[in-house]
Amino acid sequence: MMNGSRFTIHGSRFTIYHARMTERPLLVTGGAGFIGSNFVLQWIAAESAPVVNLDKLTYAGNPANLAGLGNEPRYVFVRGDIADGATVARLLAQYRPRAIVNFAAESHVDRSIHGPADFVETNIVGTFALLEATRAFWSALPQAERSAFRFLHVSSDEVYGSLAAAEPPFTEASAYAPNSPYAASKAASDHLVRSYHRTYGLPTLTTNCSNNYGPYQFPEKLIPLMIVNALAGKPLPVYGDGGNVRDWLYVADHCEAVRLALARGRPGETYNIGGNAERTNLEVVRMICSLLSELKPDPRGPHPSTLITHVPDRPGHDRRYAIDSAKIRGELGWRPREDFDTGLRKTVQWYLDHMAWTGDVMSGAYREWIEINYADR
Ligand code: NAD
Ligand code: TYD
Repeated sequence: MMNGSRFTIHGSRFTIYHARMTERPLLVTGGAGFIGSNFVLQWIAAESAPVVNLDKLTYAGNPANLAGLGNEPRYVFVRGDIADGATVARLLAQYRPRAIVNFAAESHVDRSIHGPADFVETNIVGTFALLEATRAFWSALPQAERSAFRFLHVSSDEVYGSLAAAEPPFTEASAYAPNSPYAASKAASDHLVRSYHRTYGLPTLTTNCSNNYGPYQFPEKLIPLMIVNALAGKPLPVYGDGGNVRDWLYVADHCEAVRLALARGRPGETYNIGGNAERTNLEVVRMICSLLSELKPDPRGPHPSTLITHVPDRPGHDRRYAIDSAKIRGELGWRPREDFDTGLRKTVQWYLDHMAWTGDVMSGAYREWIEINYADR
């Protein structure tokens, strides 16, 4: 592990690890979560600029996702909260990033139904604090750096609400109609980002993406939960009639879209990102079951599909999401590399190959490790 300097600001302790900064870095928030860690790994492999990763390490943040970086000199990890303006201001002053990509969020709809307060705190108040610190930093930059700077806010298609079966997919012009506390908190943060562009001229970008799946997704979300439960012989809980539709995108394709938007997106614009892969939940669960019985056959056990169990529906459950991604395809030339068949096969294989990762996450062993390793940071 690299040596670091330790700081205490407003009662929160964190460490700055020293990396070789030959180029102005990117500040990524929430880079220890599912999409953020995939993004950081992809960025370091594909781009030259260093990355500073600011992450609070909630239950969803797992530094082990980034273990593959080893002692990568272009990577710096800082444990901290986006809602802590002093921490963010200090990082901005120290590292002078050329851009910020904001992944940090509470992200699970079911958790937002049981406890919305954290969603308001991180997704709304946190984004606001991040924007305020960014505005102060950005306003003081020389003119050329001000125009080149970018604040990219990673958001969701859930802000648009629910579609009926025959309705056309969401475009960037669709009205916001969030239905869960999660979606409402993301919608509020999108509006704040928009206002910082319109009012202060901050060069913002917002991306609204459909459901992601792939490596390192916490097994509370549909796809990894079903894989993990099926492997353990546990019920596969399908909400309601299982006919709800989501549009699925492989996480690496989302990360590429974010990199493109950052490089070539027009400030002030929003870009919808989707996989053109609408499936009902039952279709997804059945595909997972047949992939598992092919990739890890268990001649003595029941077929995983016999574990499918219908459970009471989620309150306010959105029936259908679908994304029209013509804008990012046309303007930026983005194309997903995976379709749902290839992406899901890769994902199921990844979970089969990383049972220890899943076991640690499920057992809480990684939380104990975080508390031991990051207790004084
Ligand atoms: P995740 O829950 O897996 O990860 C969130 C990360 O943010 C974690 O590492 C967590 O520790 C960190 N974090 C939480 N609160 C923080 C705070 N106050 N300060 C600093 N860090 C904090 O989420 P994800 O699925 O990777 O989603 C990332 C972003 O993408 C979110 O903004 C989410 O709304 C958006 N998004 C997700 C999906 C999806 O399908 N997962 C789809 C579209 C958009
Ligand atoms: P989820 O992965 O939580 O993402 P989101 O709610 O953001 O779309 O859920 C995807 C779909 O799967 C959603 O329609 C709810 C459903 N679902 C189940 O049927 N069972 C489950 O156990 C979970 C977690 C989700």
